Amino acid sequence: MSTAAMPEFPAGFRWGVSTSAYQIEGGVGEDGRGPSIWDTFAHDPGRVADGSTGDVACDHYHRHAEDVALLAGLGVSAYRFSVAWPRVRPTGDGPVNAAGLDFYDRLVDDLLAHDIDPVATLFHWDLPQPVEDAGGWLARDTAHRFAEYADATAARLGDRVKLWITLNEPFIHLSLGHGTGEHAPGRTLLLDAFPVAHHQLLGHGLAVAALRARTTSPVAIANNYSPVRPAGDSDADRAAGAAYEALHNRLFTDPLLGRGYPVGLGFDETVVRDGDLAVVAAPIDVLGVNYYNPTGVRAPGEGSPLPFELVPLDGYPRTAFDWPVAPDGLRELLGWLHRTYGDDLPPIQVTESGCAYDDVPDADGRVHDPERIAYLDGHLRAVRAAMDEGVDVTGYFVWSLLDNWEWTEGFTKRFGLVHVDFDTQARTPKSSYAWFRDLISRP
Ligand code: FCB
Repeated sequence: MSTAAMPEFPAGFRWGVSTSAYQIEGGVGEDGRGPSIWDTFAHDPGRVADGSTGDVACDHYHRHAEDVALLAGLGVSAYRFSVAWPRVRPTGDGPVNAAGLDFYDRLVDDLLAHDIDPVATLFHWDLPQPVEDAGGWLARDTAHRFAEYADATAARLGDRVKLWITLNEPFIHLSLGHGTGEHAPGRTLLLDAFPVAHHQLLGHGLAVAALRARTTSPVAIANNYSPVRPAGDSDADRAAGAAYEALHNRLFTDPLLGRGYPVGLGFDETVVRDGDLAVVAAPIDVLGVNYYNPTGVRAPGEGSPLPFELVPLDGYPRTAFDWPVAPDGLRELLGWLHRTYGDDLPPIQVTESGCAYDDVPDADGRVHDPERIAYLDGHLRAVRAAMDEGVDVTGYFVWSLLDNWEWTEGFTKRFGLVHVDFDTQARTPKSSYAWFRDLISRP
C-alpha cells in the first residue's frame, strides 16, 4: 500500500456504500412479498456453495435502523440499496403492494434524516417468480412490467431518492443467469440468450421514461465492466479479446449511448423492433460503473460455441474469491470509457468496488482487514488518477456495507466494511470501516 497521502477528491464528491435487497433483507415472506427467482434458485439443492438461502440474510428488513446508524457512523453521503420488485408487485402484473413500499419509504426517510442521499436500484436480479414463469427477460412483456414497477416505485419515493439506478449489471444477469446458468434463473442458452440483453435494455429505456415522468432526480444504470487481457499476441487471441470486449463491455453501453449493438457477435437480433434502439438510448445522467477485476481470454478451442475462452490471470495478488487485485484495471477502464464514448459519456459514479476476504474476529472481538484497506486505497488512487487524466468521476461506492449473502457463494464470501455474525446477526465494524470513515471525513 502506498505510503503517500491519498490525493484530495473534489468537494461534493459522492462517497457511498452499496447493498442489494436479496443479499441483506431477509423477511422474504413478510408484508406481502412474493417469491423471486433467487428464492427459487437458492432453495434448489446444490445451487449454492454452503446450501444457504437469502431467507434471513442479514435480517436487514428488521434491523434497518441499526444499519442506518452504521451508515451515519461511517459518514457516507450516499447509500445505494435496491428495491425488491417482489415486494412492490409480487404477482408481476397484479396490484401494487403498498406494504412492500412502506419499508422503503421508512428507509428513505431515515436516510434523509441522517443527511444520507438515498440511491435506489430498481433491479438487482430478484425478478418476481411469476414474471419468470411468464417468460422472464426472454419475453418482451417483462420490459413493460419493469417500467410499470418503476412507475409505482417512483410514485411513492419520487424525488426523495437522489439517484435512480434502473438495472444492476445486466451483463452478469445475462451471462451467469441465462448464458451459463450459475445464477438464477439458471438458463444455459449461451449466445442464444440475446433476447435477455435486449429486453433488459428495453426495460431500462422504458423505465427511464417512467422515472422522468415522476421525478427530477438523475437517472443511471449500473454496468459491470472488466478490462480484457488477451493471453497472447496472436491474431486469434486478439480476436477473442475483441469478441469478449464487445460482449462484456460494449453490449450494454453502445446501444445505451446511441450506437446500436456491437457487430460481429453472431446474435440473432430479430427481437429488436423498429424504434426500440431509440427507447434504449434515452439520455441518462450518470453511468454507474461496477469494477472488480480484469479478465483473461484466449482463442477458443475447436468447436467451441463461444468466440473466446476465459483463462485465469497470473501475476496478481488475489482476493478470497480468487479474483485478481488490479487497481490499474480501474484506471484503464475509466480511460477506455472516456476515449471510446467521448462526449456521449455522462459523468461516471463507481457504483461498486470492493473485495472478499476471510475476515475473522480476533480474540478481542475486533476484525482487522488490512487487505481490504489496501484494496480500497489502491482503487481510490486509480480513480483519482483517471480523474487527473480527464475522466469525469463524481462518486465512489464501496461494495459492501455489510458482509452478506453472496449469491451462489452463500455466506462464504465476506465483502463488508462491517462484519456480520450470521448466527447472532451481531454487526462489528472492521478496521476498513474506520479507515474509510477517516478518509472521507477529511476537511
Ligand atoms: C457484483 C454484484 C453484487 C455483488 C458483488 C460482489 O457483481 O452486483 O451483488 O455480488 O458483485
